[in-house]
Amino acid sequence: MTPVTPSSWIAVCAARDLKSTPRRFVIAGQAVVVFRSGQDIVAFADICPHRLAPLSEGRVIDGGIECPYHGWQFDGTGLCRMIPGEVGPVPRVRLMPLSVCEHDDLIFVSLTPTEATPYSGRLMGAGNVSALVESRVQSTLIDVAENILDASHTHFTHKGLLRGLSARRHRVRVDITGGPGWVEARYEGEPRQEGLISRLLEGGRGISIGRFMAPGIAEIEFWGPQRVNLVTTFHLRQAEDGQVAGLGILSGPTEYGLGYVKAAIFKPLFAVALAQDRHILQAASANRTMFGDPKPVIGPLDILRSSIEAILKGELPPVAQQPVHMIMEL
Ligand code: FES
Ligand SMILES: [Fe+2]
Repeated sequence: MTPVTPSSWIAVCAARDLKSTPRRFVIAGQAVVVFRSGQDIVAFADICPHRLAPLSEGRVIDGGIECPYHGWQFDGTGLCRMIPGEVGPVPRVRLMPLSVCEHDDLIFVSLTPTEATPYSGRLMGAGNVSALVESRVQSTLIDVAENILDASHTHFTHKGLLRGLSARRHRVRVDITGGPGWVEARYEGEPRQEGLISRLLEGGRGISIGRFMAPGIAEIEFWGPQRVNLVTTFHLRQAEDGQVAGLGILSGPTEYGLGYVKAAIFKPLFAVALAQDRHILQAASANRTMFGDPKPVIGPLDILRSSIEAILKGELPPVAQQPVHMIMEL
């Protein structure tokens, strides 16, 4: 079962990185400006209604924002309060506020109004420890999501880090299920992995589950014999200039698996894994451009691609109707 109902919230940055200086984020092809105004967080489409300048290049003033072009000032609700030089009444012009919130140390924005609580990760809050990493890669959201959830690349791209150096594989059972806005693959029967990160963090290995949730969350749960002991949750968004921005949260129970010390050791190792993925994804992306966007071959182990594709189009993933059960060697 999926842990939450997928929502329209998109994580844009770490809460600690949002101050009273306006920041511009591109989400789903639209630019938004986000800033703190006292206790509040404010978000608008990043475009001034006057001559369309990006408001994010302006400044926060009296809890609202001043456009960098002619200095029109909009308050925190988006209403235009001041036009420099105008001596008469200010015409009624307003920016449309967007839904924005801070949750579990992340800032989330939604392009459609929502009251739902954003999903940040499987193991957040009291009793858990988490670390946050940020990454950017020249690629597409589907390629990055697939890469994160793809168990078959780790033997090669992350040799020695996530997997051992030996070529030994183990037969595992994979169950792929899905529903509106989500798909997950459950791997059972994998022995403990031998790679550096796996040794450090996983403890006794039970099952692992990789899932994708709309609008761009790729998450992996690593289970010990009884409970989840490590979760990696990536919040992905297609940003500007063909880049995918990712906010990755590693979380685990404080007293179990990922303690504070391990979290500190883990972060740099995780960064190495991310750099390995970034390299291969960017090289593939450059090839895609050079070779005129060839259609990729979907191999027999590429079990999540078609479902992720459907979810990104707002369609029901095929496995929602027809769950898939298979055996593969990992
Ligand atoms: S473009 Fe914003 S004030 Fe003119
Ligand atoms: Fe990877």
